[in-house]
Amino acid sequence: MTPEQQFDAALQSDAPPLALAPMQDVTHLPFWRIMARYGGVDLFFTEYMRVHSVSKPERWIVDSIRQNPTGRPVIVQIIGNDIPAILRTIPLLQALPIAAIDLNLGCPAPVVYKKCAGGGLLRDLPLVDRLLGAMRDAIPGRFTVKTRLGFDDPVTDSLVPLLVKHHPDLVTVHGRTVLEMYRGGIHYGHIRQIAQALPCPVLANGNVSSPDMAEETLQLTGARGLMIGRGAIRNPWIFQQIRQHRAGQPITLPTGHQVLTYIQELWEETWHATSTGPQHVHSMKRYLNFIGAGITGDGQFLDRIRRARSQPEFFSICQHYLGHPHPMTLEPPAGLIQTGACGSDHR
Ligand SMILES: Cc1cc2nc3c(=O)[nH]c(=O)nc-3n(C[C@H](O)[C@H](O)[C@H](O)COP(=O)(O)O)c2cc1C
Repeated sequence: MTPEQQFDAALQSDAPPLALAPMQDVTHLPFWRIMARYGGVDLFFTEYMRVHSVSKPERWIVDSIRQNPTGRPVIVQIIGNDIPAILRTIPLLQALPIAAIDLNLGCPAPVVYKKCAGGGLLRDLPLVDRLLGAMRDAIPGRFTVKTRLGFDDPVTDSLVPLLVKHHPDLVTVHGRTVLEMYRGGIHYGHIRQIAQALPCPVLANGNVSSPDMAEETLQLTGARGLMIGRGAIRNPWIFQQIRQHRAGQPITLPTGHQVLTYIQELWEETWHATSTGPQHVHSMKRYLNFIGAGITGDGQFLDRIRRARSQPEFFSICQHYLGHPHPMTLEPPAGLIQTGACGSDHR
């Protein structure tokens, strides 16, 4: 099957499609390799690719697409508002083995939204109208959109007609406004409103951190499927657990030892030829910031990991908390969902 056929099959299957969210500096080749081992993901999104007057497709994103180790379809996400630059970039992306091109209408990082890109576009719906129209006309294959509900207030009433008019093949909705960033609850009712109004499948996104929350999100939103970000970094077993839960099977929880193995895999897969132990300890914190909340609810583990400087120190802390055979849910304590880093621009 071609990536597009795989994409269509995932969206038409009886089971709700499950997508790994685009995450800057996370959803690249090494992380995809690991997630593919744990299984259960139907659709993989790249982190956003910046498109502007002099941009070229970023090399590490192109490499991830070319070497896609997942066996599942990859959707490349772009961010920007320069229509000629986007039109110049589309054929370059279409030449890659992608299933679809996704437009980011949701990044809440001020450095991005102040340039009227990502979530900032939700303040300029006439420009969104032009962007969606230009992309729909220029993309011969599948075109998808990932959006938030609005900039400061939900704009679903005005956004939905634009989405209907330009008929993307899939829309993902993060159930918060841009200014809400990652704070507060998810506005399930607004996702439901969009899912009901659009003819295409909708993926609901936000705070899914357990099979129960996955079920609840599907029920509350009526969405066709789910996109999961931070919950997947914390618990790469979550996609399989959701499938087990829906099939009425017992959920397989990882043991402490298995979580430790996952951290070792992250260490090995993301190690570069030029890495040093202390540098790599530092770069591992981008994952441990999320994983940590599922290990000890009181922040003790994370606190110690954040102070770790060397490889032996890092792994001795991991061994101390995870060198046990007991099952772990890896759920964060209520109210503690870490903020995202979309647009942090620290590459
Ligand atoms: C580290 C990090 C990087 C992110 N980068 C992107 C990105 O490149 N594109 C995008 O559309 N969203 C990005 N997001 C947002 C996620 O795709 C997702 O919408 C958000 O984390 C909410 O879902 P969750 O609660 O399942 O994590 C990022 C989030 C995080 C935590």
